[in-house]
Amino acid sequence: MKYESSPRVIGIASGKGGVGKTTVTVNLAAALVRKGFRVMVLDADLGLANAQIGLGCQALGNLAQVLRGERKLEEIIVSAPCGVRLVPGTSGVRDMAALDRAQVAAIIHAFSELDEPLDFLLVDIAAGISPSVLAFLGACQRRFVVACDHPASIADAYALIKVMSTEEGLDEIHVIGNMAASQAHGHHLYGRLNQVCNRFLGCSVGYLTAIEADETVQDAWRMYQPVVEYAPSSSSARDFRRLATIVSEMPLMPCASGRVQFFMERMLQTAEGA
Ligand SMILES: Nc1ncnc2c1ncn2[C@@H]1O[C@H](COP(=O)(O)OP(=O)(O)OP(=O)(O)O)[C@@H](O)[C@H]1O
Ligand SMILES: [Mg+2]
Repeated sequence: MKYESSPRVIGIASGKGGVGKTTVTVNLAAALVRKGFRVMVLDADLGLANAQIGLGCQALGNLAQVLRGERKLEEIIVSAPCGVRLVPGTSGVRDMAALDRAQVAAIIHAFSELDEPLDFLLVDIAAGISPSVLAFLGACQRRFVVACDHPASIADAYALIKVMSTEEGLDEIHVIGNMAASQAHGHHLYGRLNQVCNRFLGCSVGYLTAIEADETVQDAWRMYQPVVEYAPSSSSARDFRRLATIVSEMPLMPCASGRVQFFMERMLQTAEGA
């Protein structure tokens, strides 16, 4: 089966842990579904996967089984109540937390067999700058960096951008300010980060929007739901819907093939070069 157009593949990373990658991933996914798009989340945080908690679905299999050849990718995909499709990661499996680039390439290769029409594949990336983090990011068409107004978050976001742009040759990097006191604060945070990138890396990063700090986000996690479903009138849900509008209006990236293997070509080159 051929898709009419290729899915758009976006990696969501941060460098520092705990700044909201999974929250952004599940809520952007749910907000895009509400707009009528077909969306899949790949939980690529293979040490401590928790997208299934945020989406409220029960994983029946995991990527470790796919990697071992025990199950096919399509056999482990589950649907969340909000309509997002999820490829569950693994939690507490130490070998999966430290995959090398070739193993990541094998996971991504499995996507070329997938016959499911999709508009977006959102990849929830682990914290850090390990080889598997960079391999997943290299396979995406765009990379979103989640940062919050904390010195360690800004330092780690910069470190990640530095490695992506100078060592991996990656572009299409866009910042999301999370847990912001206001939209203006989020934009200011981006301005500081972009200034450092300009000055020391000679590159610019894009800006998407800010997601305000909102306790409802935590309440939604406790209810195993994205906040856009749990509390659509909350400030964070409003921000996630704005993010979804911005993301859906970004220009399509040129792609040689119409299948999920979009990610493939660049990915395999990266694996061979490793
Ligand atoms: N906009 C927000 N307002 C308030 N709390 C938030 C917001 N975004 C995320 N959080 C909270 O921050 C915590 C970390 O979020 P999340 O798990 O999404 O981060 P992460 O970057 O995926 O973490 P990890 O690196 O462990 O994967 C959660 O308790 C979540 O509820
Ligand atoms: Mg996470």
